[in-house]
Amino acid sequence: MKQNKTARGVKITWLGHSAFMIESPKGIVILLDPWLDNPRAPSNAKNFEKVDLILLTHGHGDHFGNTVELAKRFNAKVICNYEISLFLQKEGVTNVDGINKSGTTTASGIAITMVDATHSSTIEHNGELAYGGEPSGYVIRFENGFTLYDMGDTGVFGDMKLIAHMYKPDAVLVPIGGLFTMGPREAAKACEMVKPKMIIPMHYGTFPVLAGTPAELKKYLPASMRNRVVALQPGESAG
Ligand code: NI
Ligand code: MN
Repeated sequence: MKQNKTARGVKITWLGHSAFMIESPKGIVILLDPWLDNPRAPSNAKNFEKVDLILLTHGHGDHFGNTVELAKRFNAKVICNYEISLFLQKEGVTNVDGINKSGTTTASGIAITMVDATHSSTIEHNGELAYGGEPSGYVIRFENGFTLYDMGDTGVFGDMKLIAHMYKPDAVLVPIGGLFTMGPREAAKACEMVKPKMIIPMHYGTFPVLAGTPAELKKYLPASMRNRVVALQPGESAG
Protein backbone atom coordinates (compact mmCIF):
# COMPACT_ATOMS: atom_id res chain seq x y z
CA MET A 1 0.00 0.00 0.00
CA LYS A 2 1.26 3.41 -0.97
CA GLN A 3 0.92 5.87 1.89
CA ASN A 4 0.97 9.59 1.49
CA LYS A 5 1.02 11.89 4.51
CA THR A 6 -0.62 14.75 2.65
CA ALA A 7 -3.95 12.87 2.49
CA ARG A 8 -4.40 13.48 6.25
CA GLY A 9 -6.49 10.44 7.05
CA VAL A 10 -8.49 10.46 3.82
CA LYS A 11 -7.99 7.13 2.04
CA ILE A 12 -8.26 7.30 -1.75
CA THR A 13 -8.54 3.96 -3.56
CA TRP A 14 -8.48 3.75 -7.36
CA LEU A 15 -10.96 1.27 -8.85
CA GLY A 16 -9.79 1.80 -12.44
CA HIS A 17 -10.78 4.47 -15.01
CA SER A 18 -12.39 7.39 -13.10
CA ALA A 19 -13.84 5.26 -10.31
CA PHE A 20 -12.57 5.84 -6.78
CA MET A 21 -13.58 4.83 -3.30
CA ILE A 22 -12.85 7.53 -0.76
CA GLU A 23 -12.96 6.86 2.98
CA SER A 24 -13.19 9.94 5.18
CA PRO A 25 -11.47 10.31 8.56
CA LYS A 26 -14.83 9.53 10.23
CA GLY A 27 -15.43 6.47 8.05
CA ILE A 28 -17.84 7.92 5.48
CA VAL A 29 -17.53 5.95 2.21
CA ILE A 30 -17.85 7.88 -1.04
CA LEU A 31 -17.78 6.42 -4.55
CA LEU A 32 -16.80 8.63 -7.46
CA ASP A 33 -18.07 7.77 -10.97
CA PRO A 34 -18.57 4.08 -10.07
CA TRP A 35 -18.16 2.25 -13.37
CA LEU A 36 -16.98 -0.90 -11.63
CA ASP A 37 -17.22 -3.14 -14.69
CA ASN A 38 -14.33 -1.26 -16.27
CA PRO A 39 -11.62 -3.49 -17.76
CA ARG A 40 -9.07 -2.54 -15.09
CA ALA A 41 -11.32 -2.75 -12.03
CA PRO A 42 -9.91 -4.99 -9.28
CA SER A 43 -11.80 -8.28 -8.88
CA ASN A 44 -13.19 -7.17 -5.50
CA ALA A 45 -14.29 -3.74 -6.78
CA LYS A 46 -17.91 -4.19 -5.69
CA ASN A 47 -17.23 -5.66 -2.24
CA PHE A 48 -18.27 -2.72 -0.11
CA GLU A 49 -19.47 -3.01 3.47
CA LYS A 50 -21.38 0.20 2.98
CA VAL A 51 -21.60 3.15 0.62
CA ASP A 52 -22.78 6.50 1.96
CA LEU A 53 -22.44 8.78 -1.06
CA ILE A 54 -22.05 8.42 -4.81
CA LEU A 55 -20.84 11.41 -6.84
CA LEU A 56 -21.42 11.52 -10.59
CA THR A 57 -19.53 13.98 -12.78
CA HIS A 58 -21.65 13.43 -15.91
CA GLY A 59 -23.91 11.01 -17.75
CA HIS A 60 -21.49 9.03 -19.92
CA GLY A 61 -21.62 5.29 -19.35
CA ASP A 62 -17.97 5.02 -18.33
CA HIS A 63 -18.86 7.21 -15.29
CA PHE A 64 -22.55 6.52 -14.66
CA GLY A 65 -21.63 2.83 -14.69
CA ASN A 66 -23.15 0.86 -11.81
CA THR A 67 -24.77 3.86 -10.08
CA VAL A 68 -28.36 2.60 -10.13
CA GLU A 69 -27.59 -0.86 -8.70
CA LEU A 70 -25.19 0.49 -6.06
CA ALA A 71 -27.50 3.33 -5.00
CA LYS A 72 -30.36 0.88 -4.49
CA ARG A 73 -28.23 -1.79 -2.78
CA PHE A 74 -26.73 0.57 -0.21
CA ASN A 75 -29.39 3.31 -0.17
CA ALA A 76 -26.46 5.60 -0.89
CA LYS A 77 -27.19 9.26 -1.58
CA VAL A 78 -26.36 10.14 -5.18
CA ILE A 79 -25.05 13.65 -5.80
CA CYS A 80 -25.18 14.74 -9.42
CA ASN A 81 -26.45 17.47 -11.70
CA TYR A 82 -30.17 18.27 -11.67
CA GLU A 83 -30.89 16.59 -15.01
CA ILE A 84 -29.24 13.31 -14.02
CA SER A 85 -31.12 13.45 -10.69
CA LEU A 86 -34.42 13.45 -12.64
CA PHE A 87 -33.24 10.51 -14.73
CA LEU A 88 -32.21 8.55 -11.62
CA GLN A 89 -35.55 9.16 -9.94
CA LYS A 90 -37.29 7.72 -13.01
CA GLU A 91 -35.06 4.67 -12.57
CA GLY A 92 -36.32 4.26 -9.01
CA VAL A 93 -33.36 5.81 -7.16
CA THR A 94 -34.95 7.85 -4.38
CA ASN A 95 -32.00 9.18 -2.37
CA VAL A 96 -30.79 11.79 -4.87
CA ASP A 97 -29.39 15.30 -4.45
CA GLY A 98 -29.40 17.17 -7.77
CA ILE A 99 -27.30 20.33 -7.66
CA ASN A 100 -25.56 22.64 -10.11
CA LYS A 101 -22.29 24.47 -10.58
CA SER A 102 -20.98 26.53 -7.66
CA GLY A 103 -23.60 24.88 -5.51
CA THR A 104 -22.51 23.16 -2.32
CA THR A 105 -24.36 20.38 -0.58
CA THR A 106 -23.32 18.96 2.77
CA ALA A 107 -23.78 15.26 3.28
CA SER A 108 -22.55 13.18 6.22
CA GLY A 109 -20.50 16.17 7.38
CA ILE A 110 -18.67 16.51 4.07
CA ALA A 111 -19.06 19.62 1.89
CA ILE A 112 -19.34 18.89 -1.82
CA THR A 113 -19.19 21.70 -4.35
CA MET A 114 -19.96 21.15 -8.03
CA VAL A 115 -17.49 22.95 -10.29
CA ASP A 116 -17.15 23.39 -14.03
CA ALA A 117 -15.70 20.89 -16.49
CA THR A 118 -15.48 21.28 -20.25
CA HIS A 119 -16.87 18.10 -21.80
CA SER A 120 -20.34 16.67 -22.64
CA SER A 121 -22.84 14.59 -20.66
CA THR A 122 -25.39 12.60 -22.70
CA ILE A 123 -26.91 9.56 -20.96
CA GLU A 124 -27.11 6.43 -23.13
CA HIS A 125 -29.92 4.20 -21.92
CA ASN A 126 -31.54 1.19 -23.63
CA GLY A 127 -30.33 2.39 -27.01
CA GLU A 128 -31.79 5.89 -26.50
CA LEU A 129 -30.03 9.15 -25.69
CA ALA A 130 -31.21 11.20 -22.73
CA TYR A 131 -30.15 14.75 -21.90
CA GLY A 132 -27.60 14.55 -19.11
CA GLY A 133 -27.22 18.23 -18.27
CA GLU A 134 -23.72 19.66 -18.07
CA PRO A 135 -20.55 17.82 -17.07
CA SER A 136 -18.84 18.83 -13.85
CA GLY A 137 -16.03 18.31 -11.45
CA TYR A 138 -16.31 18.26 -7.64
CA VAL A 139 -14.46 19.87 -4.79
CA ILE A 140 -14.86 17.70 -1.71
CA ARG A 141 -13.98 19.19 1.69
CA PHE A 142 -13.67 16.54 4.39
CA GLU A 143 -14.36 16.85 8.12
CA ASN A 144 -10.72 17.72 8.82
CA GLY A 145 -10.41 20.33 6.08
CA PHE A 146 -8.58 18.10 3.58
CA THR A 147 -9.82 19.14 0.15
CA LEU A 148 -9.94 16.93 -2.93
CA TYR A 149 -10.69 18.23 -6.44
CA ASP A 150 -12.07 15.57 -8.79
CA MET A 151 -11.71 17.22 -12.19
CA GLY A 152 -14.06 14.74 -13.88
CA ASP A 153 -13.81 14.37 -17.64
CA THR A 154 -12.52 17.70 -18.87
CA GLY A 155 -10.29 19.64 -21.14
CA VAL A 156 -7.97 22.21 -19.59
CA PHE A 157 -9.56 25.63 -18.97
CA GLY A 158 -8.41 28.88 -17.38
CA ASP A 159 -11.00 28.92 -14.61
CA MET A 160 -9.21 26.01 -12.95
CA LYS A 161 -7.20 28.90 -11.48
CA LEU A 162 -10.38 30.32 -9.99
CA ILE A 163 -11.32 26.92 -8.55
CA ALA A 164 -7.83 26.67 -7.02
CA HIS A 165 -8.02 30.21 -5.65
CA MET A 166 -11.40 29.64 -4.00
CA TYR A 167 -11.08 26.10 -2.65
CA LYS A 168 -7.31 25.48 -2.35
CA PRO A 169 -7.42 21.74 -3.06
CA ASP A 170 -4.78 19.59 -1.38
CA ALA A 171 -5.13 16.81 -3.95
CA VAL A 172 -6.49 16.41 -7.47
CA LEU A 173 -7.84 13.51 -9.50
CA VAL A 174 -6.80 14.41 -13.03
CA PRO A 175 -7.67 12.72 -16.34
CA ILE A 176 -4.59 12.14 -18.50
CA GLY A 177 -5.64 9.59 -21.15
CA GLY A 178 -6.32 12.08 -23.97
CA LEU A 179 -8.79 11.74 -26.86
CA PHE A 180 -11.91 12.36 -24.71
CA THR A 181 -10.19 14.39 -21.97
CA MET A 182 -6.93 16.16 -21.27
CA GLY A 183 -3.81 14.29 -22.23
CA PRO A 184 -0.57 14.55 -20.23
CA ARG A 185 0.38 17.96 -21.66
CA GLU A 186 -2.96 19.56 -20.82
CA ALA A 187 -3.17 17.78 -17.46
CA ALA A 188 0.27 19.13 -16.52
CA LYS A 189 -0.93 22.66 -17.30
CA ALA A 190 -4.05 22.04 -15.19
CA CYS A 191 -1.88 20.90 -12.26
CA GLU A 192 0.40 23.91 -12.71
CA MET A 193 -2.64 26.17 -12.32
CA VAL A 194 -4.14 24.34 -9.35
CA LYS A 195 -0.86 23.55 -7.52
CA PRO A 196 -2.08 20.61 -5.43
CA LYS A 197 0.25 18.72 -3.10
CA MET A 198 -0.93 15.39 -4.48
CA ILE A 199 -1.72 14.54 -8.11
CA ILE A 200 -3.55 11.27 -8.84
CA PRO A 201 -3.89 10.42 -12.56
CA MET A 202 -7.06 8.74 -13.89
CA HIS A 203 -8.97 8.03 -17.14
CA TYR A 204 -5.97 6.37 -18.81
CA GLY A 205 -5.00 2.82 -19.73
CA THR A 206 -8.60 1.55 -19.66
CA PHE A 207 -8.48 1.06 -23.42
CA PRO A 208 -5.47 1.40 -25.75
CA VAL A 209 -6.81 4.73 -27.10
CA LEU A 210 -6.52 6.32 -23.63
CA ALA A 211 -2.79 6.40 -24.18
CA GLY A 212 -1.50 9.09 -21.81
CA THR A 213 0.70 7.83 -18.96
CA PRO A 214 1.81 9.14 -15.56
CA ALA A 215 5.41 9.16 -16.88
CA GLU A 216 4.40 11.58 -19.64
CA LEU A 217 2.48 13.72 -17.16
CA LYS A 218 5.65 14.00 -15.06
CA LYS A 219 7.66 14.94 -18.15
CA TYR A 220 5.38 17.94 -18.78
CA LEU A 221 5.19 19.05 -15.13
CA PRO A 222 7.65 21.58 -13.70
CA ALA A 223 10.50 19.67 -12.03
CA SER A 224 9.41 20.91 -8.61
CA MET A 225 6.00 19.22 -8.97
CA ARG A 226 7.02 15.82 -10.36
CA ASN A 227 7.25 14.12 -6.98
CA ARG A 228 3.63 15.06 -6.25
CA VAL A 229 2.33 12.50 -8.76
CA VAL A 230 0.91 9.43 -7.03
CA ALA A 231 0.30 6.86 -9.78
CA LEU A 232 -1.94 4.23 -8.20
CA GLN A 233 -2.53 0.75 -9.54
CA PRO A 234 -6.18 -0.33 -9.62
CA GLY A 235 -7.03 -1.48 -6.09
CA GLU A 236 -4.21 0.56 -4.56
CA SER A 237 -4.76 3.42 -2.11
CA ALA A 238 -3.20 6.77 -1.27
CA GLY A 239 -3.48 8.09 2.25
NI1 NI B 1 -17.14 11.50 -20.53
MN1 MN C 1 -15.06 9.33 -19.59
